[in-house]
Amino acid sequence: MTETIAIDLGGRSYDVIVGEGALEAARPHSVFRSERRFAILVDAHVAQLHAKKITAALAGISLAGEAIEIPDGERAKSFGQLETVLGRMLDCGLERGDAVLAIGGGVTGDLAGLAAALYKRGIDVIQIPTTLLSMADSSVGGKTAINMPQGKNLVGVFHQPSLVIADLAFLSTLPGRQMKAGYAEIIKAALIGDADMFTDLEASKGPDHLQAHLKTAIAFKAKIVAADEREAGSRALLNLGHTFGHALESEAAGQLLHGEAVAAGMALAFDYSARLGLCPEADAKRVGGHLQRTGLETRLSALPGAPFSAESMLERMRHDKKNSGGAIRLVLARGIGNAFIHDQTDPADLLNFLKDQIQ
Ligand SMILES: NC(=O)c1ccc[n+]([C@@H]2O[C@H](COP(=O)([O-])OP(=O)(O)OC[C@H]3O[C@@H](n4cnc5c(N)ncnc54)[C@H](O)[C@@H]3O)[C@@H](O)[C@H]2O)c1
Ligand SMILES: [Zn+2]
Repeated sequence: MTETIAIDLGGRSYDVIVGEGALEAARPHSVFRSERRFAILVDAHVAQLHAKKITAALAGISLAGEAIEIPDGERAKSFGQLETVLGRMLDCGLERGDAVLAIGGGVTGDLAGLAAALYKRGIDVIQIPTTLLSMADSSVGGKTAINMPQGKNLVGVFHQPSLVIADLAFLSTLPGRQMKAGYAEIIKAALIGDADMFTDLEASKGPDHLQAHLKTAIAFKAKIVAADEREAGSRALLNLGHTFGHALESEAAGQLLHGEAVAAGMALAFDYSARLGLCPEADAKRVGGHLQRTGLETRLSALPGAPFSAESMLERMRHDKKNSGGAIRLVLARGIGNAFIHDQTDPADLLNFLKDQIQ
């Protein structure tokens, strides 16, 4: 059974359809109107694994040319790929009223979203996420980006999708490691603002509850995005675990998946909050315990890419793009489900904390 969540952005609302078979269930939606042509941008790996399903589910829509395959992996989020994709879209004769279908993980979604935003000053994009991470997080909210030699996601725009279709059937082929990494972003929603959801996650037994948890996580993100679409304030809460996580991800040079780094980052954010006396120790322990039981490593010495250097991590955290005015900005917590933005982190104290954690 599929369910629909409305993302309410005032005049520009859109739906997220979640569940097994969502791609088929979405076909009557008004975005698939008959006079419109579609360019399919699809992760090459997903195209191979799910060609049959995609072809069957989209039968009858008018395609603008062959599907455009996006090479697998983070390197696809480049200027070169963006240019290639835009060139292919032009060659297909895509017009202003036409639309892009982005089928793949966060990489495909970010690149396709940016291409759609730029193409003829902006055409619609329909996000069809195929990883748990992209279902729970990246397909909703309208952030698009490519990477630069200077860092990840440094060039991009906000371009909200006109529909998101999170079809759980795609997850049947997703490797376990990627599933766990995506699950970290679901846990994140609970840790930021929903203590009851965290209790449910702790009690939940396996994938039966995945749809329910995914739906709660998407609805949670929807609420935050509706309140602060362009991250002027509260949307930054979604970065819980990410300042620590990005530092680990960069230091591990490709050995850690984003969600794995964020999981360890969330444990660090809770431990640091406890150390500052902001959050009960018991809560920090519960967070670490749940992540470990889920198979998400939180001990820095046991993570791929270890040993880490506290000094280099701090250096990376100082240059995080979320900082402003030279101070380090962290999302910390007063407890489970109660995250807040802490603007004035003392670098010397943070360095000592990191040193203690790394030992
Ligand atoms: N826009 C946002 O708000 C936002 C938020 C979080 C992350 N992101 C971005 O998302 C990206 C990470 O997304 P991701 O984790 O989905 O990575 P990804 O898109 O690289 O996908 C991970 C891997 O899984 C494969 N894959 C995808 N679907 C599959 C399926 N159904 N079965 C088997 N294999 C499949 C892909 O080919 C790839 O190898 C990063 O670039 C990150 O910056 C963006
Ligand atoms: Zn993330």
